[in-house]
Amino acid sequence: MTQTLTIRRPDDWHLHLRDGAVLQAVLPESARHFARAIVMPNLVPPVVTGAEAAAYRDRILAALPDGAAFAPLMTLYLTEDTDPADVAAAHASGLVHAVKLYPAGATTNSASGVRDFDRVRPVLERMAEIGLPLCVHGEVTDADIDIFDREAVFIDRVLDPIRRATPGLKVVMEHITTANAVGYVKASDGGLGATITTHHLVINRNHLLVGGIRPHYYCLPVAKREEHRQALRAFATSGDARVFLGTDSAPHVDAAKESGCGCAGCFTATNTMSILAHVFEEEGALDRLEAFASLNGPAFYGLPANDATVTLTRGDDAVTYPDRIETGDGPVTVFDPGFPLHWSVS
Ligand code: DOR
Ligand code: ZN
Repeated sequence: MTQTLTIRRPDDWHLHLRDGAVLQAVLPESARHFARAIVMPNLVPPVVTGAEAAAYRDRILAALPDGAAFAPLMTLYLTEDTDPADVAAAHASGLVHAVKLYPAGATTNSASGVRDFDRVRPVLERMAEIGLPLCVHGEVTDADIDIFDREAVFIDRVLDPIRRATPGLKVVMEHITTANAVGYVKASDGGLGATITTHHLVINRNHLLVGGIRPHYYCLPVAKREEHRQALRAFATSGDARVFLGTDSAPHVDAAKESGCGCAGCFTATNTMSILAHVFEEEGALDRLEAFASLNGPAFYGLPANDATVTLTRGDDAVTYPDRIETGDGPVTVFDPGFPLHWSVS
């Protein structure tokens, strides 16, 4: 039996597009289904200034397929030397929609991130004044903190103190992976949102490690225990306005993933909407997919929802996607959810 679901066109509130040959190859995968995306600034070197964000935006627009209607929403990479006036000007011009906080050393290309959070206070205060959201990679980097605990410890040691010290600062806790983060966001009373990735709704740490190490399931924050995945699914499908889709689709060529020291990142741009429809259907929450993928994010960012729609169709036959996307730098493997997908997008 065929079933259909029409929703406002979705947006992706956390996306890695990279640059050069990889940008060229992966951008159509996002532009096919998504109207807008918050574009991560962790290039090498990072996108720190308004001028760098404007140039990156131009490169993204130049790489768009003809006729694609896709708007990149640019972000700035917060460093200890970031100039509050430059941030404010980039926001006022309409170019920049968020500033990204990477604790130094937390993840891919985070070496220029923040070590001493006191040094970015002036920027955060300016952002609170002008209503510019801070997107947070929420993991501590202390060597003595177990990697599976780094998100929970970050909430107590870094995020909560920052929020208390900066009233009015809008914060997105990105790619949350724990019941602790779900609880922290649910206990908040405004100004705090969270994104959840597609893959963290599908995999737990067993998928990564049981029966052999699966490099294409390795991302940061790393997938946690099943009880955490269940908490994420319950929150994502709840309709709560504080939670929305940020895929964290993060392409790395296969040679960099399938390596003695593999890079973190799952590439989900290609099949995210099919996977989400599957997950929401399993949870009996198809009527709340639109809130998660298309409504809550724009509301948090103070933008209108998209006027255009997409229609998801469930067919009896499984839909197929390419196993990998070819780029000029090598193939990028598409995330394998491990179950057949029946929802297609048009
Ligand atoms: O898995 C991840 N990949 N997590 C991040 O925070 C960064 C991203 C990337 O840039 O590859
Ligand atoms: Zn990311």
